[in-house]
Amino acid sequence: MENEKILVLDFGGQYNQLIARRVRDEHVYAEVLPYTTPLDEIKAGRYKGIIFTGGPNSVYEEASPHYTPEILDLGIPILGICYGAQLMAWMLGGTIEHAPGREYGRTQVTADRNSLLFRNIPAVSTVWMSHTDYVKEVPAGFAVTASSDSCPVAAMENRAHRLYAVQFHPEVTHSVYGQQILSNFLFEVCGCSRDWVMDDFIESTVAALQEEIGTDGVVLGLSGGVDSSVAAALLSRAVGKQLTCVFVDQGLMRKDEGDMVEAAFKGLFDMNFVRVNCQEQFLSHLAGVTDPEKKREIIGTQFYGIFWDVIRERYADGYFAQGTIYPDRIESGKGDAAKIKTHHNQVKMPEDIHFKGVIEPLKDLFKDEVRQVGEKLGLPHDLVWRQPFPGPGLGVRVIGEVTAERVRILQDADAVLRDEMHRNGYEESMAQFFAVLPGVRTVGVMGDARTYEEVVALRAVTTDDFMTADWARIPYDILARVSNRIINEVEHVNRVVYDITSKPPGTVEWE
Ligand code: XMP
Repeated sequence: MENEKILVLDFGGQYNQLIARRVRDEHVYAEVLPYTTPLDEIKAGRYKGIIFTGGPNSVYEEASPHYTPEILDLGIPILGICYGAQLMAWMLGGTIEHAPGREYGRTQVTADRNSLLFRNIPAVSTVWMSHTDYVKEVPAGFAVTASSDSCPVAAMENRAHRLYAVQFHPEVTHSVYGQQILSNFLFEVCGCSRDWVMDDFIESTVAALQEEIGTDGVVLGLSGGVDSSVAAALLSRAVGKQLTCVFVDQGLMRKDEGDMVEAAFKGLFDMNFVRVNCQEQFLSHLAGVTDPEKKREIIGTQFYGIFWDVIRERYADGYFAQGTIYPDRIESGKGDAAKIKTHHNQVKMPEDIHFKGVIEPLKDLFKDEVRQVGEKLGLPHDLVWRQPFPGPGLGVRVIGEVTAERVRILQDADAVLRDEMHRNGYEESMAQFFAVLPGVRTVGVMGDARTYEEVVALRAVTTDDFMTADWARIPYDILARVSNRIINEVEHVNRVVYDITSKPPGTVEWE
């Protein structure tokens, strides 16, 4: 049976994926579509409710994203948020004012607790505002249900028509009862049931995969990253040995990581696992190359060359699977909505290979849902919670020329950092941490002898989305231990430095 669905109609705001995730946290399936989606498509979607998102525009401007007012007559409950609230008011004849300044930050609102939207929250609570325009007069048939000092209409509703709107952002955690407000919309207004559950997802996806694949073979490129690993585990559950995972190990993973991936998949899952070890081939192409873009290009070309050769020779007669996830596919409500984001998870197929079809079993899941599925399928914790790792691997963390020896130095230094973070319980409080070999040599002294050896840089960041990041405040005593251990345990390193650059202006990776 199909899940009940909420539509998040995207008008270009920055929190729009977050709205869908918050809805799913309530076990209700939500999908994000751009405001350019035709009304017929929305009708065909049979949504239980619609959420108009925020957006940076002003409703009176002609170029701003609008939608046909017929959407308000479908009889589907609607919640407008920020720009979405102004749009709803404007479509129905209310008036919108342009405030002299922007209201940004936490604000106290007083809400009418008789409203279904404000059930089970205090009369006065803190919400997050971020707007310049505001609703001055509500449309006919609407009541004001919340207000603040600077915002006369912090919320409005037409209960009979099940139209609701809030000027603030319930989806961000700074709105203390925001999740309760969204939950009220889903359950009190839309009458949703909580039918989006990962156990059910696994069961129904496994059944659908079995049906689709039949007795054919499936091949999946496994990188050792979370998405492809979970896709592999799910396919293994569905079709066992009909699945072949191809793991191209360029020798640029972290210390022992290739072996860990192999052990996990061979030991725990029913499938054919093919590991192609090709470090020498990669290194020979990288010899003498120092330009970062050139290095990335070589690693990418080599990787896909080898990958497709293996598949062309042995596995090209069935289905091709990949670990695409929902954020890879969401079209943006900003700008060119017809263009789907290209992403490294979505692989370009060579023209001479003709699969029966492409299978993307995780295409509707957010990352946190992918992780839940991975845990339920029994993937090792380290794989499920693996930090992001660049496609070109340590190739972009060994600055300058990539040689077997320099990769080994970096792997050993990185392993010390990971070990100390793990021992001290910092492993999961940081989004990403790793070592870099900047390619600088410095003078040092060891015993009585002068040394001239490599520098290791440590990088650690905290972030929610990797678009911006802050350098992590690792305690000095941990940094001290890491530094001592690297210099004592890793040959050819005589200095350790810590990168204290946030993003922007720095990127997370050094190349
Ligand atoms: P930057 O360095 O752009 O990194 O701040 C942001 C995040 O992306 C990861 N990253 C990559 N991931 N292929 C990937 O799959 C790549 O080429 C790549 N480059 C950077 C990086 O580790 C960080 O998490």
